[in-house]
Amino acid sequence: MQKKEKPWGGRFSEPTDGEVEAFTSSLHFDRRLYRYDIEGSIAHARMLAKQGIITRAEATAIIAGLATIRGEIETGAFPFNPGDEDIHMAVEKALTDRIGEAGGKLHTGRSRNDQIALDIRLYLRDEIGRVIGLVAELKAGFVALAKKEFGVILPGYTHLQKAQPVLLAHYLLAFWEMLDRDESRLRDCLTRVNVMPLGAAALAGTGLPIDRRYVARLLKFPHVTANSMDSVSDRDYIAEFVFTASLIMMHLSRFCEDLIIWSTDEFGYVEIADAYTTGSSIMPQKKNPDVAELIRGKTGRVYGHLVALLTILKGLPMTYNRDLQEDKEPLFDAVDTLRASLKIITSMLCRLSFSRARMEAGAASGFSTATDVAEYLVTKAVPFREAHGIAGRIVAYCIERDKALTDLSLKEFRRFYPGFGKDLFVRLTVRQSVNSRRVPGGTAEAMVRRRIAEIERR
Ligand code: ARG
Repeated sequence: MQKKEKPWGGRFSEPTDGEVEAFTSSLHFDRRLYRYDIEGSIAHARMLAKQGIITRAEATAIIAGLATIRGEIETGAFPFNPGDEDIHMAVEKALTDRIGEAGGKLHTGRSRNDQIALDIRLYLRDEIGRVIGLVAELKAGFVALAKKEFGVILPGYTHLQKAQPVLLAHYLLAFWEMLDRDESRLRDCLTRVNVMPLGAAALAGTGLPIDRRYVARLLKFPHVTANSMDSVSDRDYIAEFVFTASLIMMHLSRFCEDLIIWSTDEFGYVEIADAYTTGSSIMPQKKNPDVAELIRGKTGRVYGHLVALLTILKGLPMTYNRDLQEDKEPLFDAVDTLRASLKIITSMLCRLSFSRARMEAGAASGFSTATDVAEYLVTKAVPFREAHGIAGRIVAYCIERDKALTDLSLKEFRRFYPGFGKDLFVRLTVRQSVNSRRVPGGTAEAMVRRRIAEIERR
């Protein structure tokens, strides 16, 4: 029975234990690779025929059989058998059932070890392309919002304490920068994913006269892998992708964290559209930012996948080990989670309404222009450390009297430093404060406008 059922059953004298079969099977999750598995097999069959390893007629039968199987899987008609070990075996067995003996020639010069490496690379190459598209859409969303909200000022924070006034557009474009780096990391990762491993066979290559470069051309890989042992055990590109996914999630999570804080009654800087929030089953007044919270939570889940992968890989003796089968669920879930998060945050983004009044009131309070007082003194040749001390004493004076900097008279300012002039007061407005920060990369309107123009030129 074993001998008939398992393609590797030749040397076994008893069937696999049922529990072992279930434990070792990856079919329930690796079936999502079917398209890539079949695409790779078709290229492999074409190469085998070109090299005269199988006949043209056999290759034609194999390719037609594989195409039928692909159609069946797509329509849901394919009879998946949970007893099959993985997608490779399921497809190969179905092929032999349909076309007979020729099906048994497909696996010539190939092992599941290089086959799975090929499948994942094909899959990940596609997915990275999709993720790059989603990241690009989100980047465009941030630019659009920055333009729409141009001129709005909010308090910038450090330590979640009011620090200095900044443009909302500047804040939004900070996320554009993060996502732009993420996009470049994805493209960089893609160059290492996009290398063709087939032909490594089990680990050492094959004695049959295969043509690896031909397979690479058919599958649009610019390169073939250079070392067969590395080819079957390398999963760096998966770890790299999941690391990049982790960073993207971290960036989304940080934005979400701000939205969560900003949408509280205490801040009131932003309102998330009803369609992107949920209510409470007991408190009728509640409107909760669950989407933002879930993205924050799912970030932890993607980090978990990264740690899982690195841990799976760290102790593996060369070369292929079955542990490597455990790479797929973390990868697939990272891809799904990342794609879903990018999509929903992009649609939520254009449904945010910012409260200009709350933000600007927030920016005007809390002594957010105290640095401007110190910088004013620097223009009067006061050493910065001393200027900092003077401004600090003025803030303390204000706190004691429950006053804002703008409530003080010139006379009061002069008590702390006689050189204060009337020109101080325009510097104390938040807009002036923002627009004074004209360094490259600073928050001045002129600088942010310039950055938007640069981004749009690209
Ligand atoms: N399901 C396996 C994996 O995901 C495919 C390769 C199996 N190779 C083997 N020699 N058992 O890694």
